[in-house]
Amino acid sequence: MGITWQEGQRLFRLDTPNTTYLIGVVDKEGFLGHVYYGRRLEDTAGAEELLRILEAPFTPESNDRERASFMDSFPWEYSAHGVGDFRESSVRVRDRNGCSAVMLTYVSHEIRSGKPPLKGLPATFGGEEQTQTLEITCEDRVLGLRAILSYSVFRDTDAIARSVRFENIGGSELWLEKALSCCLDMDDPGLDAITLHGSWARERHMERKPVGHGKFSVSTLRGASSHQEHPFMALLTSGANQDQGEVYGFHLVYSGNFLIQAEVNQFDSVRVVAGINPEDFSWKLEPGEAFQTPEVILTYSAQGLGAMTRSLHDLYRNHLIRSPYLHKKRPILINNWEATYFDFDEKKLLAIAQESAALGIEMLVMDDGWFGGRCDDSRALGDWQVNEEKLKGGLGKLVEQVNALGMKFGIWFEPEMISEESELYRAHPDWALEVPGRTRTRSRNQYILDISRREVRDHIMERMFAVLHSANIEYVKWDMNRSLTDLGSVALPPDRMGELYHRYVLGVYEMQERLISEFPDLLLENCSGGGGRFDPGMLYYSPQIWCSDDTDAIERLTIQESTAMLYPLSAIGAHVSVCPNHTVGRNTPFETRGYVALAGTFGYELDVTKLSAEDRALVSGQISVYHRFHDLVREGDYFRLASYQENKSFDCFQICDREKEKSLVFYTQVLSRPNRRSRILRLKGLDERAVYRILTVDMNSGTLTEDTGRLVSGAVLMWGGMRLENFTGDFRSRLYYLEKAE
Ligand code: DGJ
Repeated sequence: MGITWQEGQRLFRLDTPNTTYLIGVVDKEGFLGHVYYGRRLEDTAGAEELLRILEAPFTPESNDRERASFMDSFPWEYSAHGVGDFRESSVRVRDRNGCSAVMLTYVSHEIRSGKPPLKGLPATFGGEEQTQTLEITCEDRVLGLRAILSYSVFRDTDAIARSVRFENIGGSELWLEKALSCCLDMDDPGLDAITLHGSWARERHMERKPVGHGKFSVSTLRGASSHQEHPFMALLTSGANQDQGEVYGFHLVYSGNFLIQAEVNQFDSVRVVAGINPEDFSWKLEPGEAFQTPEVILTYSAQGLGAMTRSLHDLYRNHLIRSPYLHKKRPILINNWEATYFDFDEKKLLAIAQESAALGIEMLVMDDGWFGGRCDDSRALGDWQVNEEKLKGGLGKLVEQVNALGMKFGIWFEPEMISEESELYRAHPDWALEVPGRTRTRSRNQYILDISRREVRDHIMERMFAVLHSANIEYVKWDMNRSLTDLGSVALPPDRMGELYHRYVLGVYEMQERLISEFPDLLLENCSGGGGRFDPGMLYYSPQIWCSDDTDAIERLTIQESTAMLYPLSAIGAHVSVCPNHTVGRNTPFETRGYVALAGTFGYELDVTKLSAEDRALVSGQISVYHRFHDLVREGDYFRLASYQENKSFDCFQICDREKEKSLVFYTQVLSRPNRRSRILRLKGLDERAVYRILTVDMNSGTLTEDTGRLVSGAVLMWGGMRLENFTGDFRSRLYYLEKAE
């Protein structure tokens, strides 16, 4: 790791273990150009030539006649607006004359150890030994605008965190109308883009397509990172796969409206920009005020998507998730949502808890429906008092009884919302977002609280804290069940209304920060109608996020594959639920549901009192498997061996410990195939010189069964492959455990 300023070449050099990033400063004009991002360079001699300033149209200093041509072809490190670069700008500023041009040029820089936090925003972190930060100060003297471009590198991970801080250093107010977090210009070697798309219950399905001329983007205006698009884009050289080819990854650490865009221009160069979606965004900067953009993570891999995945997993585990649960075994939970929906009382919950405790389940989570008059989804959001008609004896008594069974207790909240039919709404109708003169837009029967307002946040936090202090509650599920509309706040003047979307997100972050500061040992799980706000921003507050309301094991193969391409398995909320599945009506073996949930945080979401004896026996087996392998699943390196999204037939992935001593292979056959031989799949991440014993995990008993003669060398497993015995039956899984033989 290291950042250096190479004075002779006027280059900044940023190194991670396997990558180099170079930024050039053009002498007189102070233009900041992107020189190189790719595999690590031993020597950078001559790299400045990549800026092409010695060929026509030359720089304006030597050829001002063609200033616009230069502006429109130079590889900018952070693109300007309205001065001749007709590609996507990174920033646009409205000044008091109504003009919007911006041109930032180099003023100074600072290289420092460590990584400063971003005020009010989630961000990666690392100590002085682990991280280094370059801050390049640029200015537009006409506007009186300063921009500090920040780049942090990590000693142990191939990632660069970029963000920008704007300061109004002039005497007049300015309005930022666009303030993206990064721009990356490079020649287009012929790239494909991978992006993630979906909807409720169908989150993060992968799409790959060639990037052609023009603009290709993913974005949202839903106020949350969304089910529909994910704040991520990978650009790959066209043949790149899991193990080979070049991959550039862009992942935003932000939970609101975003834009990530790739643009190929007339000279076949590609520009990638990422940040807060400029649509419906503006931010007023009074003289002396500052604005901080969210952070974007850049990764580069010369060894395909798999290496990108492992860099992101390491980055998020080591430098983003802060929870004390990060490296700890998560309690096996049972959530009552799919078991009871709103129809429960303390008796039903206790019956579920008793049966669960007997099976070894460790925590009961009481989902939606425990507060105010909440008997369905039409009422009571905002009334965060326990409904004692439902829970006779109150929350304290219920939690004591659950604790007496040896189980922890967790609870659900939806703090950002308000129902019209609620005490809160009757007292404060103006606390819901509203555009004057327009009927509010209902979604799931609810409105959105204006959490850009401090008094609204204070009230909700006070109510939540009162509930959480009233009993021994060790887990909170923080839900958010609709997209933002009605963007109007009575607390903001007209020329600040464009700040509302971002202020809302800042409000969420502030509330979650207060929650985990007040209850430092709390296990927080974020959720948004399933996985509608599953993003790196939320991971800064909660070590796990509910991945999808679709708990069907086969649907989950796709959702979890794409989610695991970016996030460690320890972050992926996954439960075993009942069949026929409530979302798709599919029947899958209980065993398979267990394997799929074991590749996440693992828990149950069903009425355990109604399980058949056969399934109950499997619960015990699954729990033993979880106890045996939770650390490997949580901490191991992840390798994708086959993609059901691509082959439409089967799913397979592998987890290895760092020492290459042990490994798990998860295999799911979606549809059985007639008249086939065994399947041979090449494993990854093993020690070629070692010999491994292959064991099959028996989910019925939770034990390992040794197949005779299955001692195979790492080299054979990796280059020849592992033979997976043919078996019949649809939706069936196998779990194999490999350990180094003595
Ligand atoms: C949506 C969540 O994703 C579900 O798990 C459940 O908590 C419901 N909301 C409750 O309203």
